[in-house]
Amino acid sequence: MADKLYIFDTTLRDGEQVPGCQLNTVEKIQVAKALEELGVDIIEAGFPISSPGDFNSVVEISKAVSNPTICALTRAVQKDIDVAVEALQYAKHKRIHTGIGTSDSHIKYKFNSTREEVIERAVAAVKYARRFVDEVEFYAEDAGRTDNAYLARVVEAVIKAGAKVVNIPDTTGYCFPEEYGAKIKYLIDHVDGIENAIISTHCHNDLGMATANALAGVMNGARQVEVTINGIGERAGNTAMEEVVMALKSRNTAIVETGINTKKIAPTSRMVSNLMNMPVQANKAIVGRNAFAHSSGIHQDGVLKNIQTYEIIDPKEVGIDENSIVLTARSGRAALKHRLSVLGIEVNDERLNHLYEEFLRLADKKKEVLDNDLLALAGITPKTENNIKLDYLQSTAGKEIRNIASIGLDIAGEKFEAAATGNGPVDAAVNALKQIVKRNMVLQNFTIQAINKGSNDAAKVHMQVLYDDNVYYGFGVDTDIVVASIEAYIDAINKFPNK
Ligand code: KIV
Ligand code: ZN
Repeated sequence: MADKLYIFDTTLRDGEQVPGCQLNTVEKIQVAKALEELGVDIIEAGFPISSPGDFNSVVEISKAVSNPTICALTRAVQKDIDVAVEALQYAKHKRIHTGIGTSDSHIKYKFNSTREEVIERAVAAVKYARRFVDEVEFYAEDAGRTDNAYLARVVEAVIKAGAKVVNIPDTTGYCFPEEYGAKIKYLIDHVDGIENAIISTHCHNDLGMATANALAGVMNGARQVEVTINGIGERAGNTAMEEVVMALKSRNTAIVETGINTKKIAPTSRMVSNLMNMPVQANKAIVGRNAFAHSSGIHQDGVLKNIQTYEIIDPKEVGIDENSIVLTARSGRAALKHRLSVLGIEVNDERLNHLYEEFLRLADKKKEVLDNDLLALAGITPKTENNIKLDYLQSTAGKEIRNIASIGLDIAGEKFEAAATGNGPVDAAVNALKQIVKRNMVLQNFTIQAINKGSNDAAKVHMQVLYDDNVYYGFGVDTDIVVASIEAYIDAINKFPNK
């Protein structure tokens, strides 16, 4: 039987450290719930001592999800551990993730210490954390550049001290897969008591090898992988969960299996990307816009005859409805006919030939011919009412004055203007917007965050708008918080379905 591979998700800790990606507690709970549905085993919810916001998020996530273990990060410092214990008080299953740098450069430059002292601090931290929780995970920061013989001594000592999981981070994304795999094997072969702990991978992507390294770790005995959705994380990011999970699934390796419901991968990826305002690159494996898109005529023809010709994963397995045939000047008649039929337009050969000529003329001018273009070619007017853009916004704010806002919108090329008052500048602007867009919508949640620091900072606004029993999320960013707010509202409205 295949071993269980534990999926430890650190989107909300290592992923969230990326500048501009910070989420508020409400958004973190949303992500945590999605991770629970996805089937992750452990959610690293934050680094509680780092800020009151992180502390609060760990508390609230602990209350909001019950299946996964909730993990809190600490340094090998008693105060950190005390705060983590407090933050985890409501978690049904809890874990403390404590650790210290073990590479010579961390020992010398970060701690001005010695190898022996670092082992002592590591052991003391694990023993201290074990006073409060059963599950203690130890990380040997910069293990990727730590001498293997010394690393084995650290790992042996922390397992003896009570660590149940030992994390071997390639913090700087330095290792090659063979090297990282050999490191894990070295530990398995040389550490007394290694059978009492799970070895975990935690790989960064600085050289584009985070997924390969994590897999090399698994092939050599690691049974937990630390990952993030879409591979987000500091610098070049962390190992992407979807890549590890789908690599193992699609190659049908009998070694390990995960509990991930892969059909939830695409929706979770989109949610994280939207909330963190972190676009996924189009050619990103598994979740990129082009991951299942075929554009050359030869490939399109093959895929339409038998999908296996050019596809190794059925997109439905990761929650994408169908593979997409991208229509470009290189597409053939078969692809055009297929897309028209998906849009509900059946054509005979004569009409197809005619449309194909028009299609080629258009494709020569445009990089990609979209569904709306095809509908127009076929003489059907696409619905564009959800295409709202903010033309201008003027608002007054201050003490003991009336807050007035005037707004100009461009809706599918048509111009609209309105003005309104409100109890504040945002309220006035929203009221003006609602005079133009007359939908039965309710603003359910509204958060404003500064991206950096200082009064010249840009504000990041998230809005949650209820419409037709569905919730739509909008995002806006601007140095003017009223503009950012209205952009967020418009972003949410633009996601409403066409009527
Ligand atoms: O990359 C790293 O070393 C980390 C540790 C704090 C686990 O994120
Ligand atoms: Zn990391």
